[in-house]
Amino acid sequence: MVKGLSQEILEAMAHVKARNDFEYKQTGKKKTYFIETYGCQMNEHDSEKISWLLENMGYELTDNKEDSDFIIYNTCLVRENAELKVYGQLGALKDLKRRKPELILAVCGCMMQREEARNVILSKYKHVDIIFGTSNIHKLPQLINRFNQTNETVVDVVEDNKEIIDDIEVLEANRKYSFKAFVNIMYGCNNFCSYCIVPYTRGRERSREPKNIIREIEELAAKGYKEVTLLGQNVNSYGKTLDYDFSFAKLLEEVNKIDGIERIRFMTSHPKDLSDELIMAMAKLDKVCEHLHLPVQSGSNRILKAMNRKYTKEDYLLLIEKLRKAVPDIAISTDIIVGFPGETEEDFNETLDLVEKVRYDSAFTFLYSIREGTRAAKMEEQVPDEIKHERFQRLLDVLYPIFYENNLKYKDRVVEVLVEEVSKNNEKVLSGRSRTGKLIHFEGDKDLIGKLIDVKITTVKTFTLEGHII
Ligand code: 5AD
Ligand code: SF4
Repeated sequence: MVKGLSQEILEAMAHVKARNDFEYKQTGKKKTYFIETYGCQMNEHDSEKISWLLENMGYELTDNKEDSDFIIYNTCLVRENAELKVYGQLGALKDLKRRKPELILAVCGCMMQREEARNVILSKYKHVDIIFGTSNIHKLPQLINRFNQTNETVVDVVEDNKEIIDDIEVLEANRKYSFKAFVNIMYGCNNFCSYCIVPYTRGRERSREPKNIIREIEELAAKGYKEVTLLGQNVNSYGKTLDYDFSFAKLLEEVNKIDGIERIRFMTSHPKDLSDELIMAMAKLDKVCEHLHLPVQSGSNRILKAMNRKYTKEDYLLLIEKLRKAVPDIAISTDIIVGFPGETEEDFNETLDLVEKVRYDSAFTFLYSIREGTRAAKMEEQVPDEIKHERFQRLLDVLYPIFYENNLKYKDRVVEVLVEEVSKNNEKVLSGRSRTGKLIHFEGDKDLIGKLIDVKITTVKTFTLEGHII
Protein backbone atom coordinates (compact mmCIF):
# COMPACT_ATOMS: atom_id res chain seq x y z
CA MET A 1 0.00 0.00 0.00
CA VAL A 2 1.40 3.42 -0.90
CA LYS A 3 -0.10 5.99 1.41
CA GLY A 4 0.84 9.56 1.90
CA LEU A 5 3.44 9.80 -0.83
CA SER A 6 2.97 12.89 -2.98
CA GLN A 7 1.88 12.66 -6.59
CA GLU A 8 5.32 13.79 -7.73
CA ILE A 9 7.04 10.97 -5.87
CA LEU A 10 4.57 8.36 -7.08
CA GLU A 11 5.13 9.52 -10.65
CA ALA A 12 8.88 9.37 -10.25
CA MET A 13 8.58 5.84 -8.81
CA ALA A 14 6.47 4.77 -11.78
CA HIS A 15 9.06 6.20 -14.20
CA VAL A 16 11.99 4.40 -12.63
CA LYS A 17 10.00 1.19 -12.34
CA ALA A 18 8.89 1.29 -15.97
CA ARG A 19 12.47 1.81 -17.10
CA ASN A 20 13.75 -1.03 -14.92
CA ASP A 21 10.94 -3.38 -16.01
CA PHE A 22 11.59 -2.56 -19.66
CA GLU A 23 15.27 -3.36 -19.33
CA TYR A 24 14.35 -6.56 -17.46
CA LYS A 25 12.22 -7.63 -20.43
CA GLN A 26 15.06 -6.90 -22.83
CA THR A 27 17.88 -8.50 -20.88
CA GLY A 28 16.06 -11.11 -18.80
CA LYS A 29 17.99 -9.88 -15.78
CA LYS A 30 16.28 -8.07 -12.93
CA LYS A 31 17.87 -4.84 -11.74
CA THR A 32 19.53 -5.33 -8.38
CA TYR A 33 20.63 -3.10 -5.52
CA PHE A 34 23.26 -3.40 -2.84
CA ILE A 35 22.93 -1.43 0.38
CA GLU A 36 25.45 -0.94 3.16
CA THR A 37 24.47 0.72 6.42
CA TYR A 38 26.75 2.29 9.01
CA GLY A 39 25.88 3.50 12.49
CA CYS A 40 22.86 3.31 14.72
CA GLN A 41 19.38 1.75 14.60
CA MET A 42 18.03 5.01 13.24
CA ASN A 43 20.17 4.46 10.14
CA GLU A 44 19.22 0.78 9.97
CA HIS A 45 15.58 1.76 9.92
CA ASP A 46 16.21 4.46 7.29
CA SER A 47 17.81 1.74 5.16
CA GLU A 48 14.66 -0.36 5.54
CA LYS A 49 12.72 2.59 4.10
CA ILE A 50 15.20 2.98 1.25
CA SER A 51 14.89 -0.75 0.48
CA TRP A 52 11.11 -0.41 0.36
CA LEU A 53 11.39 2.41 -2.18
CA LEU A 54 13.93 0.56 -4.32
CA GLU A 55 11.96 -2.68 -4.34
CA ASN A 56 8.86 -0.78 -5.38
CA MET A 57 10.82 0.57 -8.34
CA GLY A 58 11.78 -2.84 -9.65
CA TYR A 59 15.09 -3.38 -7.89
CA GLU A 60 15.88 -6.65 -6.13
CA LEU A 61 18.26 -6.93 -3.17
CA THR A 62 21.65 -8.55 -3.77
CA ASP A 63 24.70 -9.05 -1.58
CA ASN A 64 26.91 -9.14 -4.66
CA LYS A 65 28.14 -5.57 -5.02
CA GLU A 66 30.11 -6.19 -8.23
CA ASP A 67 27.02 -7.50 -9.95
CA SER A 68 24.53 -4.86 -8.80
CA ASP A 69 22.97 -1.99 -10.73
CA PHE A 70 22.48 0.35 -7.81
CA ILE A 71 24.86 0.70 -4.86
CA ILE A 72 23.97 2.81 -1.87
CA TYR A 73 25.89 3.69 1.30
CA ASN A 74 23.90 4.93 4.26
CA THR A 75 26.60 6.69 6.26
CA CYS A 76 27.38 7.56 9.87
CA LEU A 77 29.40 10.43 11.26
CA VAL A 78 29.55 9.69 14.97
CA ARG A 79 33.17 8.50 14.86
CA GLU A 80 35.92 9.06 12.35
CA ASN A 81 36.32 5.35 11.66
CA ALA A 82 32.88 5.00 10.12
CA GLU A 83 33.62 7.96 7.87
CA LEU A 84 36.97 6.62 6.71
CA LYS A 85 35.40 3.26 5.87
CA VAL A 86 32.92 4.93 3.54
CA TYR A 87 35.66 6.82 1.72
CA GLY A 88 37.59 3.55 1.46
CA GLN A 89 34.58 1.78 -0.06
CA LEU A 90 33.89 4.60 -2.50
CA GLY A 91 37.52 4.69 -3.59
CA ALA A 92 37.44 0.96 -4.27
CA LEU A 93 34.39 1.40 -6.51
CA LYS A 94 36.07 3.76 -8.98
CA ASP A 95 37.22 0.89 -11.10
CA LEU A 96 33.86 -0.91 -11.08
CA LYS A 97 32.10 2.28 -12.12
CA ARG A 98 34.59 2.71 -14.99
CA ARG A 99 33.88 -0.84 -16.19
CA LYS A 100 30.14 -0.48 -15.64
CA PRO A 101 29.10 3.11 -16.36
CA GLU A 102 25.37 2.35 -16.08
CA LEU A 103 25.82 1.47 -12.40
CA ILE A 104 24.23 4.11 -10.13
CA LEU A 105 26.19 4.95 -7.00
CA ALA A 106 24.43 6.80 -4.18
CA VAL A 107 25.55 8.06 -0.76
CA CYS A 108 23.12 9.19 1.93
CA GLY A 109 22.82 9.44 5.72
CA CYS A 110 24.43 11.58 8.40
CA MET A 111 27.72 12.23 6.63
CA MET A 112 25.85 13.85 3.77
CA GLN A 113 24.28 16.36 6.14
CA ARG A 114 27.76 17.91 6.47
CA GLU A 115 28.87 20.28 3.75
CA GLU A 116 32.51 19.31 4.32
CA ALA A 117 31.80 15.64 3.61
CA ARG A 118 29.67 16.47 0.56
CA ASN A 119 32.52 18.59 -0.81
CA VAL A 120 34.99 15.73 -0.34
CA ILE A 121 32.68 13.47 -2.35
CA LEU A 122 32.05 16.05 -5.04
CA SER A 123 35.74 16.78 -5.49
CA LYS A 124 37.45 13.43 -4.89
CA TYR A 125 34.79 10.83 -5.60
CA LYS A 126 33.28 12.22 -8.77
CA HIS A 127 31.92 8.78 -9.69
CA VAL A 128 29.20 9.18 -7.02
CA ASP A 129 25.91 9.90 -8.81
CA ILE A 130 23.38 10.71 -6.09
CA ILE A 131 23.86 12.40 -2.72
CA PHE A 132 20.99 12.94 -0.28
CA GLY A 133 20.48 13.62 3.41
CA THR A 134 18.58 12.16 6.32
CA SER A 135 15.29 13.98 5.85
CA ASN A 136 14.69 13.48 2.15
CA ILE A 137 14.83 9.72 1.79
CA HIS A 138 11.35 9.84 0.26
CA LYS A 139 12.72 11.86 -2.65
CA LEU A 140 15.01 9.06 -3.79
CA PRO A 141 12.71 8.18 -6.77
CA GLN A 142 12.89 11.76 -8.03
CA LEU A 143 16.65 11.82 -7.58
CA ILE A 144 17.11 8.60 -9.56
CA ASN A 145 14.86 10.00 -12.25
CA ARG A 146 16.77 13.25 -12.42
CA PHE A 147 20.05 11.37 -12.62
CA ASN A 148 18.71 9.13 -15.38
CA GLN A 149 17.66 12.20 -17.36
CA THR A 150 20.75 14.37 -16.88
CA ASN A 151 23.54 11.90 -16.09
CA GLU A 152 24.93 14.54 -13.75
CA THR A 153 25.56 14.22 -10.01
CA VAL A 154 22.37 14.98 -8.10
CA VAL A 155 22.63 16.51 -4.62
CA ASP A 156 19.61 16.94 -2.37
CA VAL A 157 20.03 17.76 1.32
CA VAL A 158 17.83 19.66 3.76
CA GLU A 159 20.45 21.45 5.83
CA ASP A 160 18.61 22.34 9.00
CA ASN A 161 16.39 19.28 9.29
CA LYS A 162 13.71 21.35 11.01
CA GLU A 163 10.53 19.55 10.25
CA ILE A 164 9.36 16.00 10.07
CA ILE A 165 8.45 15.71 6.44
CA ASP A 166 5.02 14.14 6.12
CA ASP A 167 6.17 11.68 3.54
CA ILE A 168 8.79 10.30 5.90
CA GLU A 169 6.12 9.77 8.52
CA VAL A 170 4.25 7.42 6.28
CA LEU A 171 7.10 6.02 4.24
CA GLU A 172 6.84 2.25 4.35
CA ALA A 173 9.84 0.15 5.29
CA ASN A 174 11.02 -3.22 4.07
CA ARG A 175 11.69 -4.39 7.57
CA LYS A 176 14.45 -6.91 8.06
CA TYR A 177 12.26 -9.12 10.27
CA SER A 178 8.54 -9.87 10.07
CA PHE A 179 8.06 -10.06 13.84
CA LYS A 180 10.08 -7.19 15.31
CA ALA A 181 10.19 -3.63 14.05
CA PHE A 182 11.82 -0.28 14.60
CA VAL A 183 9.46 2.66 14.90
CA ASN A 184 10.68 6.26 14.87
CA ILE A 185 9.08 8.34 17.58
CA MET A 186 11.26 11.42 17.28
CA TYR A 187 14.07 12.86 15.23
CA GLY A 188 17.08 15.03 16.07
CA CYS A 189 18.66 15.98 19.37
CA ASN A 190 18.92 19.18 21.42
CA ASN A 191 21.47 18.06 23.96
CA PHE A 192 24.74 19.12 22.40
CA CYS A 193 26.95 16.74 24.33
CA SER A 194 30.30 18.36 23.62
CA TYR A 195 31.80 15.34 21.78
CA CYS A 196 28.78 14.59 19.59
CA ILE A 197 28.09 15.56 16.01
CA VAL A 198 24.47 14.33 15.95
CA PRO A 199 22.78 17.63 16.85
CA TYR A 200 24.58 19.20 13.88
CA THR A 201 23.50 16.52 11.42
CA ARG A 202 20.11 15.29 12.54
CA GLY A 203 19.01 18.78 13.59
CA ARG A 204 16.70 19.89 16.36
CA GLU A 205 14.54 17.52 18.34
CA ARG A 206 11.08 16.90 16.84
CA SER A 207 8.52 14.42 18.21
CA ARG A 208 6.10 12.62 15.95
CA GLU A 209 2.41 12.91 16.77
CA PRO A 210 1.37 10.11 19.15
CA LYS A 211 -1.60 9.19 16.94
CA ASN A 212 0.68 8.57 13.95
CA ILE A 213 3.00 6.40 16.04
CA ILE A 214 0.08 4.42 17.47
CA ARG A 215 -1.41 3.94 14.00
CA GLU A 216 1.91 2.66 12.66
CA ILE A 217 2.23 0.18 15.55
CA GLU A 218 -1.39 -0.96 15.19
CA GLU A 219 -0.69 -1.71 11.54
CA LEU A 220 2.44 -3.65 12.51
CA ALA A 221 0.45 -5.65 15.08
CA ALA A 222 -2.18 -6.41 12.45
CA LYS A 223 0.58 -7.80 10.21
CA GLY A 224 1.72 -10.10 13.03
CA TYR A 225 4.61 -8.10 14.50
CA LYS A 226 5.20 -8.97 18.16
CA GLU A 227 7.96 -6.59 19.20
CA VAL A 228 8.56 -2.89 18.61
CA THR A 229 11.60 -0.79 19.40
CA LEU A 230 10.75 2.88 19.71
CA LEU A 231 13.59 4.95 18.30
CA GLY A 232 14.82 8.41 19.11
CA GLN A 233 18.12 10.06 20.01
CA ASN A 234 16.69 10.91 23.41
CA VAL A 235 13.33 9.19 23.90
CA ASN A 236 12.96 10.40 27.49
CA SER A 237 12.26 13.90 26.26
CA TYR A 238 9.57 12.65 23.86
CA GLY A 239 6.63 15.03 23.60
CA LYS A 240 8.42 18.24 24.50
CA THR A 241 7.89 19.68 21.01
CA LEU A 242 4.19 18.80 20.87
CA ASP A 243 1.60 21.55 21.45
CA TYR A 244 0.03 19.59 24.30
CA ASP A 245 1.15 17.57 27.30
CA PHE A 246 2.24 14.09 26.27
CA SER A 247 5.16 12.30 27.93
CA PHE A 248 7.16 9.27 26.86
CA ALA A 249 5.65 7.30 29.77
CA LYS A 250 2.20 8.11 28.41
CA LEU A 251 3.24 6.96 24.96
CA LEU A 252 4.45 3.65 26.42
CA GLU A 253 1.10 3.27 28.16
CA GLU A 254 -0.72 3.71 24.84
CA VAL A 255 1.55 1.28 23.00
CA ASN A 256 1.11 -1.22 25.82
CA LYS A 257 -2.63 -1.33 25.01
CA ILE A 258 -2.13 -2.50 21.42
CA ASP A 259 -3.32 -6.08 20.99
CA GLY A 260 -0.79 -8.39 19.38
CA ILE A 261 2.28 -6.45 20.46
CA GLU A 262 3.97 -8.50 23.17
CA ARG A 263 7.22 -6.67 23.75
CA ILE A 264 8.14 -3.00 23.80
CA ARG A 265 11.72 -1.75 23.74
CA PHE A 266 13.11 1.74 23.29
CA MET A 267 16.34 3.58 22.78
CA THR A 268 18.20 5.78 23.53
CA SER A 269 17.54 7.20 26.99
CA HIS A 270 19.45 10.14 28.40
CA PRO A 271 20.00 9.83 32.18
CA LYS A 272 19.19 13.49 32.74
CA ASP A 273 15.64 13.01 31.46
CA LEU A 274 14.86 9.62 33.01
CA SER A 275 11.82 10.53 35.10
CA ASP A 276 10.25 8.70 38.03
CA GLU A 277 7.12 8.57 35.88
CA LEU A 278 9.03 6.55 33.29
CA ILE A 279 10.55 4.22 35.88
CA MET A 280 7.07 3.58 37.26
CA ALA A 281 5.76 2.97 33.75
CA MET A 282 8.52 0.42 33.14
CA ALA A 283 7.56 -1.34 36.37
CA LYS A 284 3.84 -1.27 35.67
CA LEU A 285 3.48 -1.97 31.96
CA ASP A 286 3.64 -5.69 31.27
CA LYS A 287 4.87 -5.42 27.68
CA VAL A 288 7.78 -3.06 28.37
CA CYS A 289 10.86 -5.26 28.49
CA GLU A 290 13.16 -5.43 31.51
CA HIS A 291 16.08 -3.84 29.72
CA LEU A 292 17.35 -0.29 29.67
CA HIS A 293 20.15 1.16 27.59
CA LEU A 294 21.37 4.11 29.65
CA PRO A 295 24.56 5.66 28.24
CA VAL A 296 26.77 6.96 31.03
CA GLN A 297 29.78 8.00 28.87
CA SER A 298 32.08 8.57 31.89
CA GLY A 299 32.19 8.08 35.66
CA SER A 300 34.10 11.28 36.37
CA ASN A 301 32.05 14.32 37.37
CA ARG A 302 34.69 16.63 35.92
CA ILE A 303 34.51 14.85 32.54
CA LEU A 304 30.71 14.58 32.62
CA LYS A 305 30.59 18.35 33.06
CA ALA A 306 33.01 18.90 30.18
CA MET A 307 30.86 16.54 28.10
CA ASN A 308 27.80 18.69 28.95
CA ARG A 309 25.90 15.62 30.15
CA LYS A 310 24.08 17.47 32.98
CA TYR A 311 24.23 14.68 35.59
CA THR A 312 26.82 13.48 38.08
CA LYS A 313 28.11 10.01 38.84
CA GLU A 314 26.01 10.12 42.03
CA ASP A 315 22.83 11.07 40.10
CA TYR A 316 23.44 8.18 37.73
CA LEU A 317 24.02 5.65 40.53
CA LEU A 318 20.84 6.83 42.21
CA LEU A 319 18.90 6.24 38.99
CA ILE A 320 20.28 2.71 38.78
CA GLU A 321 19.21 2.07 42.35
CA LYS A 322 15.69 3.33 41.64
CA LEU A 323 15.47 1.25 38.46
CA ARG A 324 16.60 -1.93 40.21
CA LYS A 325 14.13 -1.36 43.01
CA ALA A 326 11.24 -0.79 40.60
CA VAL A 327 12.15 -3.49 38.06
CA PRO A 328 14.08 -6.16 40.01
CA ASP A 329 15.37 -8.23 37.10
CA ILE A 330 16.27 -5.34 34.82
CA ALA A 331 19.31 -5.66 32.53
CA ILE A 332 21.24 -2.44 32.09
CA SER A 333 23.53 -1.61 29.21
CA THR A 334 25.49 1.53 28.44
CA ASP A 335 27.82 3.52 26.20
CA ILE A 336 31.22 4.60 27.52
CA ILE A 337 33.76 6.91 25.88
CA VAL A 338 37.41 6.44 26.78
CA GLY A 339 39.96 9.23 26.34
CA PHE A 340 37.73 12.30 26.22
CA PRO A 341 39.95 15.44 26.16
CA GLY A 342 41.49 16.12 29.55
CA GLU A 343 40.66 12.64 30.94
CA THR A 344 43.27 11.88 33.61
CA GLU A 345 44.12 8.55 35.20
CA GLU A 346 42.00 9.65 38.15
CA ASP A 347 39.00 10.40 35.91
CA PHE A 348 39.36 7.04 34.20
CA ASN A 349 39.48 5.27 37.57
CA GLU A 350 36.16 6.93 38.38
CA THR A 351 34.74 5.27 35.26
CA LEU A 352 36.10 1.89 36.36
CA ASP A 353 34.63 2.46 39.80
CA LEU A 354 31.22 3.31 38.33
CA VAL A 355 31.29 0.22 36.13
CA GLU A 356 32.09 -1.95 39.17
CA LYS A 357 29.20 -0.39 41.06
CA VAL A 358 26.56 -0.55 38.31
CA ARG A 359 27.52 -4.05 37.12
CA TYR A 360 26.32 -3.68 33.53
CA ASP A 361 24.89 -6.51 31.46
CA SER A 362 26.55 -5.17 28.34
CA ALA A 363 28.28 -2.04 27.11
CA PHE A 364 29.35 -0.33 23.92
CA THR A 365 32.78 1.14 24.51
CA PHE A 366 34.30 3.80 22.28
CA LEU A 367 37.65 5.50 21.89
CA TYR A 368 37.01 9.23 21.86
CA SER A 369 37.09 10.44 18.25
CA ILE A 370 37.56 14.10 17.34
CA ARG A 371 34.56 15.42 15.40
CA GLU A 372 35.25 18.76 13.76
CA GLY A 373 32.62 21.34 14.61
CA THR A 374 31.94 20.02 18.12
CA ARG A 375 33.10 21.81 21.28
CA ALA A 376 35.33 18.95 22.40
CA ALA A 377 37.29 19.06 19.14
CA LYS A 378 38.63 22.46 20.21
CA MET A 379 39.65 21.31 23.69
CA GLU A 380 43.37 21.45 24.13
CA GLU A 381 44.27 18.42 26.21
CA GLN A 382 43.58 15.65 23.70
CA VAL A 383 44.56 12.26 25.15
CA PRO A 384 47.36 10.47 23.24
CA ASP A 385 46.27 7.37 21.29
CA GLU A 386 48.41 4.91 23.27
CA ILE A 387 46.81 6.02 26.52
CA LYS A 388 43.33 5.78 25.00
CA HIS A 389 44.02 2.23 23.81
CA GLU A 390 45.54 1.15 27.10
CA ARG A 391 42.53 2.48 29.08
CA PHE A 392 40.14 0.90 26.60
CA GLN A 393 41.70 -2.51 27.25
CA ARG A 394 41.59 -2.02 31.00
CA LEU A 395 37.92 -1.08 30.78
CA LEU A 396 37.10 -4.27 28.87
CA ASP A 397 39.09 -6.31 31.41
CA VAL A 398 36.77 -4.99 34.11
CA LEU A 399 33.54 -5.20 32.07
CA TYR A 400 33.74 -8.75 30.72
CA PRO A 401 33.91 -10.62 34.05
CA ILE A 402 30.90 -8.55 35.16
CA PHE A 403 28.92 -9.54 32.05
CA TYR A 404 29.73 -13.18 32.79
CA GLU A 405 28.79 -12.87 36.43
CA ASN A 406 25.44 -11.31 35.48
CA ASN A 407 24.76 -14.11 33.01
CA LEU A 408 25.45 -16.75 35.68
CA LYS A 409 22.16 -15.73 37.28
CA TYR A 410 20.39 -17.24 34.27
CA LYS A 411 21.74 -20.76 34.78
CA ASP A 412 18.86 -23.29 35.05
CA ARG A 413 16.28 -20.53 34.64
CA VAL A 414 13.46 -20.72 32.12
CA VAL A 415 13.23 -17.57 30.00
CA GLU A 416 10.82 -16.41 27.31
CA VAL A 417 12.62 -16.07 23.98
CA LEU A 418 11.48 -14.38 20.77
CA VAL A 419 13.03 -16.66 18.14
CA GLU A 420 14.89 -14.55 15.56
CA GLU A 421 16.96 -16.63 13.18
CA VAL A 422 18.90 -19.73 12.31
CA SER A 423 22.48 -19.61 13.52
CA LYS A 424 25.01 -18.73 10.84
CA ASN A 425 27.28 -21.58 11.91
CA ASN A 426 24.83 -24.40 12.50
CA GLU A 427 21.49 -24.77 10.75
CA LYS A 428 20.01 -26.83 13.60
CA VAL A 429 20.63 -24.02 16.07
CA LEU A 430 18.28 -21.06 16.47
CA SER A 431 18.92 -17.79 18.20
CA GLY A 432 16.64 -15.33 19.89
CA ARG A 433 16.46 -12.80 22.68
CA SER A 434 15.09 -12.79 26.19
CA ARG A 435 13.03 -9.82 27.38
CA THR A 436 16.23 -8.60 29.03
CA GLY A 437 17.96 -8.56 25.65
CA LYS A 438 20.20 -11.60 26.21
CA LEU A 439 21.18 -13.48 23.05
CA ILE A 440 20.25 -17.15 23.49
CA HIS A 441 21.15 -20.18 21.32
CA PHE A 442 19.19 -23.45 21.35
CA GLU A 443 18.35 -26.30 19.01
CA GLY A 444 15.02 -26.09 17.21
CA ASP A 445 13.12 -26.05 13.96
CA LYS A 446 13.20 -22.90 11.83
CA ASP A 447 9.37 -22.83 11.84
CA LEU A 448 9.74 -21.37 15.32
CA ILE A 449 11.19 -18.13 13.94
CA GLY A 450 8.99 -15.22 15.02
CA LYS A 451 7.42 -17.16 17.89
CA LEU A 452 7.71 -16.66 21.65
CA ILE A 453 8.88 -19.84 23.36
CA ASP A 454 10.30 -20.94 26.72
CA VAL A 455 13.95 -21.95 26.87
CA LYS A 456 15.78 -23.45 29.84
CA ILE A 457 19.30 -22.08 30.17
CA THR A 458 21.95 -24.76 30.51
CA THR A 459 25.23 -23.03 29.58
CA VAL A 460 26.33 -19.52 30.40
CA LYS A 461 28.94 -17.56 28.48
CA THR A 462 30.10 -13.95 28.63
CA PHE A 463 28.15 -12.72 25.60
CA THR A 464 25.57 -15.46 25.02
CA LEU A 465 23.48 -18.07 26.79
CA GLU A 466 22.68 -21.59 25.62
CA GLY A 467 19.71 -23.74 26.47
CA HIS A 468 16.98 -26.08 25.28
CA ILE A 469 13.32 -25.61 24.48
CA ILE A 470 10.92 -26.85 27.15
N1 5AD B 1 33.81 9.77 19.99
C1 5AD B 1 33.59 8.56 20.53
N2 5AD B 1 32.35 8.10 20.79
C2 5AD B 1 31.32 8.89 20.50
N3 5AD B 1 29.99 8.70 20.65
C3 5AD B 1 29.35 9.80 20.19
N4 5AD B 1 30.24 10.71 19.74
C4 5AD B 1 31.47 10.17 19.93
C5 5AD B 1 32.81 10.61 19.68
N5 5AD B 1 33.05 11.80 19.16
C6 5AD B 1 29.41 7.51 21.26
C7 5AD B 1 28.62 7.85 22.52
C8 5AD B 1 27.20 7.67 22.10
C9 5AD B 1 27.34 6.58 21.06
C10 5AD B 1 26.19 6.44 20.13
O1 5AD B 1 28.50 6.93 20.35
O2 5AD B 1 28.97 6.91 23.52
O3 5AD B 1 26.34 7.30 23.16
FE1 SF4 C 1 24.75 12.97 20.82
FE2 SF4 C 1 24.29 13.59 23.40
FE3 SF4 C 1 22.32 13.88 21.55
FE4 SF4 C 1 23.11 11.41 22.27
S1 SF4 C 1 22.15 12.94 23.63
S2 SF4 C 1 22.75 12.17 20.16
S3 SF4 C 1 25.31 11.70 22.62
S4 SF4 C 1 24.25 15.02 21.64
